[in-house]
This record gives sequence, structure tokens and C-alpha cells, in this order.
Amino acid sequence: MEIISKIQKLTLRHIQKFYREEKKIVALTAYDALMAKIADEVGVDIILVGDSLGMTMLGYKNTIPVTLEQSLHHTSAVVRGVKHALVIGDMPFLSFQISSDETVRNAGRFLQEAGADGVKLEGGKIMAPTVLRLVNCGIPVIGHIGILPQRVIAEGGYRVQGKNDEEAAALCEDAKALQDAGAFALILEGLPVNLAKKITQLVTIPTIGIGAGIHCSGQIQVAHDILGMFEDWKPKHAKHYGQLGKKIRSIFSEYTSEVQQQIFPTDDHSFHKL
Ligand code: KIV
Repeated sequence: MEIISKIQKLTLRHIQKFYREEKKIVALTAYDALMAKIADEVGVDIILVGDSLGMTMLGYKNTIPVTLEQSLHHTSAVVRGVKHALVIGDMPFLSFQISSDETVRNAGRFLQEAGADGVKLEGGKIMAPTVLRLVNCGIPVIGHIGILPQRVIAEGGYRVQGKNDEEAAALCEDAKALQDAGAFALILEGLPVNLAKKITQLVTIPTIGIGAGIHCSGQIQVAHDILGMFEDWKPKHAKHYGQLGKKIRSIFSEYTSEVQQQIFPTDDHSFHKL
């Protein structure tokens, strides 16, 4: 595969240009410098340091335990790996709900300490005043509606949203409110294809879908899902482009057996006196 050498750092203006030109926006999660570097070099436009890091990196069963410090730690690692893509930090559970001032301080840390280009936060029109405050402080924001993984405990699981007229109308209102508050893009997670299409036509900012069909302005996936890192599980919205979990298992197993059988290291991997 060709490695694209795009040194020019993307800004919000580039994302807006792609949107105007109807060029699909490619977004992907990453949590460390090396993976982010690879995603960056193949031309991913937006790298989200998702709070999915709870499951992909930290072994939690959902995103609730992820802390601001953990998110900042991973976001700064990603920033160090990236030259081109826009890097977005994901505001973890309770880092943007307690008070408006605390939200500004927390969001600001993603830009000031981690070097991110913006933040994402979950929630519909109830979050519009928060988005407005951040945008007024010069902090670019991506909204996130549909399935809100940080509400997994309250909702008792993950459920496709907007399947009836009432929910669909509320999601349209959410999208408009976040746009009007200044969000520069919207993640649409787990929505019927036609509703995601309707929202995409309703707003004048890019929609980035995950489990929301083909009509969004762009797509985002959790890197570990498309890599096939979880060996026995694949969410419906993801496609396995590889089976890395199985591949890594076989490499680690071969290494283990070669060490045990004294096949590795050979002379080639050893140092000798001159
Ligand atoms: O945390 C995450 O990775 C996300 C994406 C699924 C959009 O929020």
C-alpha cells in the first residue's frame, strides 16, 4: 500500500473544504503514537483518541471508568505520532458535566497539555450550552449523538437510537442544536440509515457515522474493531479488514515455543566480542 507523505497539518478549514467538496471524511481511533503514525501516513483525516481506550487499551468493560488523566496521556502520545491528521481528544465521563468552568478547564487541557486540535463530547441539545461555551473559548468541538456509550449504565446497554418517529425527531433537534452551538462536526452512532441521511441533509456541518450507514459525510471506526483485535467478537457496524488478534496470538505462541525449545535466539540475534 502506498504511504502518503502529507506533511501539511490539517485544520478545521480543510475538514470544511472536504465537506463542501463532498469528499468523504475518514476518521479512525488511535491511542498510541505508533498506530497513530500509521493511520496518519495512509491519509486518515481525523484521529479520535476515543474513550473506547477503556476497552481497547485498559481492559475495562465499558468507557465509564476512563479518567481525564488517562485520556490526556493517550492523546499526547497520539499527537506525537501525527503530522497530518486532526487529532481530537474525547472528553471522558463526568469531565464535562459538573460545571461549565470545570468543563472549559478540562477541555482546555486537551489543547494545552496534550496538543490536540479539538475535543469530542457526547450528548444532544442538552449539551448545546456547553458546546457554545467551549467554542467561544476557541476550543473546536465535535458533537456525538445516537448511541451514547457513556450512558450504558443508565440505558442498560447499547441500543440503536431513532427507530421511532419521536426519537428520530429528537435526534434531528439534537443535531441542529449542536450545529447552532458551533460544533464543527457530528458523530452519528448507531442510527438507522435513513435517519442518518436525513440528519446529514438537515445540517450544514459534516456528519461522521459509525453504524449509521453510507450517507454520512464521513465514517469513523474503532481501530481495534477493524483490525480484528477482539478475536471472538465483532460489532455489527464494523468490518474486519484483518484478524490481528489471531495473528498476534500465533506470533506470541511461536516465540514462546522457540524460547522454550532453545531455537531463539540464534547467533544472528547475539553479540560477540571482536
Ligand atoms: O470512543 C470512541 O471510540 C468513540 C467512537 C466510537 C466514535 O466515541
